[in-house]
Amino acid sequence: MAKKDIYDIVNERFDKKFKRESVIKDSDRFKTYDEVFDHQNLDHIYVLMKRGYIKTVECPISTGKEANVYKINTKEGEAALKIFRTSTSTFGAFLEYIDGDRRFQKIDRSKRGIIYTWSRKEHLNLITMFDEGLSVPEPGAFFRNLLMMEYIEYEGKPAPQIKILDAEKEEWIEMWHIVLDFVKKLFMNCKLVHADLSEYNILYNGEPVFIDVGQSVHIEHPNAPHLLQRDLNVISKFFKKKGLKGIDQDAMSLKTQLLDSLTEDEK
Ligand SMILES: Nc1ncnc2c1ncn2[C@@H]1O[C@H](COP(=O)(O)OP(=O)(O)O)[C@@H](O)[C@H]1O
Ligand SMILES: [Mg+2]
Repeated sequence: MAKKDIYDIVNERFDKKFKRESVIKDSDRFKTYDEVFDHQNLDHIYVLMKRGYIKTVECPISTGKEANVYKINTKEGEAALKIFRTSTSTFGAFLEYIDGDRRFQKIDRSKRGIIYTWSRKEHLNLITMFDEGLSVPEPGAFFRNLLMMEYIEYEGKPAPQIKILDAEKEEWIEMWHIVLDFVKKLFMNCKLVHADLSEYNILYNGEPVFIDVGQSVHIEHPNAPHLLQRDLNVISKFFKKKGLKGIDQDAMSLKTQLLDSLTEDEK
């Protein structure tokens, strides 16, 4: 008899626990996602299932440096589940975005503790942005290193990053202004800087949707001005490649406007 692979084990564990059909479908498509399904993460998924948030885990959407993203089913329909890998080797850099953020003063500094804080930070940032009406996925439940959010879809598929979008120049101009408006509202209304803004972290579902906000820092973070400048540099470079004019001037005047708006206490 063929040796059982990890996916059979995952499915059996879920089946036994929930006494129903396999909740992880299409296990072949999970082949490259092994490392996420360790016992701890499975237990975390169970917790979200027991609490009634997750019905089934459907298929992987993406595997990144620090997290894997899955499409899942909930009572309300489809959603996205971001699982931060606890085996990630780059977690040390996380502290640069946590320390100095007054919202996270006392944290567990073990590897696992830092990663849990990171996902809590993404959850909190998403809530702040969503509540201010910014174009971000609606935040859902979260538990330890697992974060649920609205699934962003376009034409029946996971929404593409604007990096691979084929659009007319007029549309790029419109998107550039949406990006500037996002950076401005994020800073002025949410008091945050994205800190990883790029063509990879903006999805398109008919309009730009901003994602990946775990590293976003409060404007009082000592590095906030530098991170704002970096965000503007990275995203300007992308829009310049689309042949748009006046990008650098737009970015520079936004930066000046935002930094000038800081009160003495916020500096
Ligand atoms: N809510 C979502 N809906 C649809 N796709 C998503 C969603 N969140 C993330 N993705 C997909 O997963 C990829 C990685 O997510 P992201 O939050 O950028 O994590 P990281 O870059 O740290 O791996 C995104 O580029 C996007 O393709
Ligand atoms: Mg990303």
